[in-house]
Amino acid sequence: MFTLHNPLDMHLHLREGEMLAKVLPFSARAFSAAVVMPNLQEPINTTARALDYARQIQAQSTEFMPLVALYLQESLSPQELENARRNGLFLIKLYPQNVTTNSTQGVADILSPKILEILRAAQDLDFILCVHAETQDFVLDREVGFHPILESLCARFPQLPIILEHMSDARSIPLLEKYPNLYATLTLHHITWHLDALLGARLNPHLFCKPLLKTPKDQEALLQLALSAHPKVCFGSDSAPHSLAHKHACACAAGIFSAPLLLEALTTLFDIHHALDRLQAFVSDNARRIYQLDRRVQLPKKSLTLSKHPPTIPTIPDLIIPPFAVEWRIDA
Ligand code: NCD
Ligand code: ZN
Repeated sequence: MFTLHNPLDMHLHLREGEMLAKVLPFSARAFSAAVVMPNLQEPINTTARALDYARQIQAQSTEFMPLVALYLQESLSPQELENARRNGLFLIKLYPQNVTTNSTQGVADILSPKILEILRAAQDLDFILCVHAETQDFVLDREVGFHPILESLCARFPQLPIILEHMSDARSIPLLEKYPNLYATLTLHHITWHLDALLGARLNPHLFCKPLLKTPKDQEALLQLALSAHPKVCFGSDSAPHSLAHKHACACAAGIFSAPLLLEALTTLFDIHHALDRLQAFVSDNARRIYQLDRRVQLPKKSLTLSKHPPTIPTIPDLIIPPFAVEWRIDA
């Protein structure tokens, strides 16, 4: 038996409409709260839209708190940021243009005066900046290619907490030591698999995601970071559902759907590596500290007991969950 208190998923895609209704229960059952990504077809780029989206989510799941991030665009004025803070929003998401799903309206020139002005206001207003840290370099070098921009942001805005989301490359780890205001989220898939799982035997579209899975060395280094619950990292699943039809229509849309088995698979992984004593920090305590959640929100209380029995793997029409190892199930 093993108990987790207030699990938090600090990077989650819930989509909208029918897809939202279909995937939300899986996160709401296991997590107290989640950072909800704003890359809907029409980006969540105003306070009004973010509040409306949060209301839609809460109308369906009352014991689950959505922490909706605002999609950074040049139109996000300092006045709108003030409005957002007054309404309890505190996360901004930076998508460089065209690097991932629904990022065509992302930022083309990140270090432009306009964007820097917005980020300075964000720092003054006590926001946290979540970053999709990729360029359009050679696919295995996209995160490292983004380092100069990331370092520039960390140095310019030392009071702005910056989150390198879904860290995928071991070469990013030293930046956590270099910049006091830089943190990272880690997904289950990047600490579980490397490129062989995606394309070693047969191409598996359900393991295709941005940033791409990388080398065995990257996976191992990221896994060790998670297993040690490094104080500057926390869990963010990046569960990103795409219907089978959409996966096919888009010649494999990027995104791995992991929400239904996250805690079961994380517990299994930490158990195999004799690190269960670090899991509470990795899936909750670190995030509470890094995002200073206790002074910002009142998290719904949730304690989950897991036991070592194979769970029933849900089948969900039109969605595929990749084959995570799961030897633990949630009992209550
Ligand atoms: C995400 C999505 O589908 O929205 N896709 C992905 O591969 N991770 C977007 C993202 O987080 O990059
Ligand atoms: Zn994502």
